[in-house]
Amino acid sequence: MTKKVLKYSVINLCRFMLAITFILSGFVKAVDPLGTQYKIGDYLEALHIASYIPDILTLISSILLSSLEFCLGVFMLFAIRRHIVSKIIFVFISIMTVITLWIAIANPVSDCGCFGDAIKLTNWETFIKNIILMAAAVTVWKYPLCMVRFISKSNQWIVINYTIIFIVFISGYSLYDLPQFDFRPYHIGANIKKGMEIPPGAKQPKFENTFIMEKNGVRKEFKLDNYPDSTWKFIDSKTVQISEGYIPPIHDFSIQKVGSGEDITNNILGDKGYTFLLISPHLETADDSQLDQINQISEYCTDNGYKFYCLTASTGKAINRWQSITGAEYSFCNTDETTLKTIIRSNPGLLLIKAGTIIRKWSHNTLPDEKQFSKPLEHSEIGTMPKDSVTGKILKIILWYVLPLMVLTLADRTWAWSRWVKNKEKSNKIYQLLKRKKMRKKIVAGNWKMNMNLQDGIALAKELNDTFTAEKPNCGVIICTPFIHLASIAQFLNQDIIGLGAENCADKVKGAYTGEVSAEMVKSTGAQYVVLGHSERRSYYNETPAILKEKVQLALDNNLKVIFCIGESKEEREANRQNEVVKAELDGSVFDLSAEDFAKIVIAYEPIWAIGTGLTATSDQAEEIHAYIRNCIADKYGKQVAEDTTILYGGSCKASNAPELFAKPDIDGGLIGGASLKAADFKGIIDAWKK
Ligand code: 13P
Repeated sequence: MTKKVLKYSVINLCRFMLAITFILSGFVKAVDPLGTQYKIGDYLEALHIASYIPDILTLISSILLSSLEFCLGVFMLFAIRRHIVSKIIFVFISIMTVITLWIAIANPVSDCGCFGDAIKLTNWETFIKNIILMAAAVTVWKYPLCMVRFISKSNQWIVINYTIIFIVFISGYSLYDLPQFDFRPYHIGANIKKGMEIPPGAKQPKFENTFIMEKNGVRKEFKLDNYPDSTWKFIDSKTVQISEGYIPPIHDFSIQKVGSGEDITNNILGDKGYTFLLISPHLETADDSQLDQINQISEYCTDNGYKFYCLTASTGKAINRWQSITGAEYSFCNTDETTLKTIIRSNPGLLLIKAGTIIRKWSHNTLPDEKQFSKPLEHSEIGTMPKDSVTGKILKIILWYVLPLMVLTLADRTWAWSRWVKNKEKSNKIYQLLKRKKMRKKIVAGNWKMNMNLQDGIALAKELNDTFTAEKPNCGVIICTPFIHLASIAQFLNQDIIGLGAENCADKVKGAYTGEVSAEMVKSTGAQYVVLGHSERRSYYNETPAILKEKVQLALDNNLKVIFCIGESKEEREANRQNEVVKAELDGSVFDLSAEDFAKIVIAYEPIWAIGTGLTATSDQAEEIHAYIRNCIADKYGKQVAEDTTILYGGSCKASNAPELFAKPDIDGGLIGGASLKAADFKGIIDAWKK
């Protein structure tokens, strides 16, 4: 594993650990906003400031805290706004670590409430957990960009908004109804009596006795194992609990009748029939909007022989007030406030129990209506446990939250991937173009052959000169003319735009070769190029590879660049010998050159059957053999030289077919015969490079 992979793995591991912790912790708080509010209240109580802070503020804080935690967790999971989210998480955990250290040392609350009622940790366990999270938070805060994104930046807003709406909705719904997931010992299906039992063999609490004894005016402490002899006088003893015993999940549930104080816990829990318990920790602050419904239920109980009690921690005065405003005829009992708050997160809330087992729970907002009480509970749906199981609720969350986000992520990743592929293709194309542009020159060269008298030639050259001075061509332009034109044209031609070349030169340096023109003479006219190896010269003037080899060398010696023509005849093409032919022509005349000299050669592939016949090689045919020629050059001089060599196509090339030919990767331009004799035709071909 490389260092980089290791670094990324560690950072992303920290990120997932933080994300899962925050999501879990935010979610369990969000499904129980009142529970979280009570916990905040406990902290404020420990700080002695609870009485200054109104309940509504602690409730809002509870919803904000759980939503913030959940959102931070989800954002971290998706690596959304990596910089800011990792910073907030770091600050959040830093504050929490300080608080948990205080809790661990001072023990102001027995349970930190980090994971609501879902997971309970001791205060020191909580502190250690926070230290581990702190290390993870520092890691992601230092390298936020190493967190791999699950969703593109442009689509992050969907996750952000959807998550905020989801968690606020869950909080609001749990507040209106009851916690959607009940982690407390009083959940539906729980048997209260069983919850109070201590299983046989459970751990017992341990106590230690210390005895204070005195002898000769000296006081000393002794334990049982070193209890002194009778010369010591007993003064006092202390008993300290040194370890806790097993505490059952329900350990503080009792019901005392108001007035008589009679404990009726066992009566109620042992009753085989149905009992309704109206739970109100504080009657003073209980919601009284559903009083009629509560009274109706109480009457229904009287009619059907079910018990109905109101359990409250309120005193007689508040009970009297409640009775007078509601006309309540049911009995009131006292139970511990915290126990009542734990039983149901609603004030008031309604509990239906049978033989000590909790059958149903309702918040005051969702009390059953008259229709549901039309028949006795034994025959009614509400007399049985509800069908919506925990699995069903989890499935609902998956369906409404997890699944949409998964679909979004999948769609986003597919979109991002296709964009990446497209961009790569585009950059590849640009790269190819740049490479071609950089590596080798695009050229369109005209070969006038034996056409144009001096005046016509000058006129054509002037026209081309004016045309391309006014409108710069997109490629190198060369005109190769008969010898007689060279000196005159060289006088006015702007050779920065249009290069000038001859169509031939002698294979001798100088001397008695009547009618011949040497490479030196060509150069002296001001020309820079020379066409050599044209098929017409090979066939009509018997120019052999050996002669051409001489000519090439002389041209190069005189600083002329060579446009070297190769190509097969019709018969050779029909015999599928074109590759062999061009290879032999290269071998015979130019492949002896040094790489440095070869760089001054432009190759022109001209199939003889296409020259002046109107027949053109198809672009694919041409590309195939151009690629082959480039391969031969690569074999001889290496890939780089091959990439740098300009290879032109010649043979009935016109403005109409030039764009298709020039679009091929190995065709770098053309050597034009007939179509170079008119400025407009020639320009039409040159303009193919603009397309
Ligand atoms: P055409 O363009 O007339 O076919 O001639 C090609 C040629 O031989 C150029 O050298």
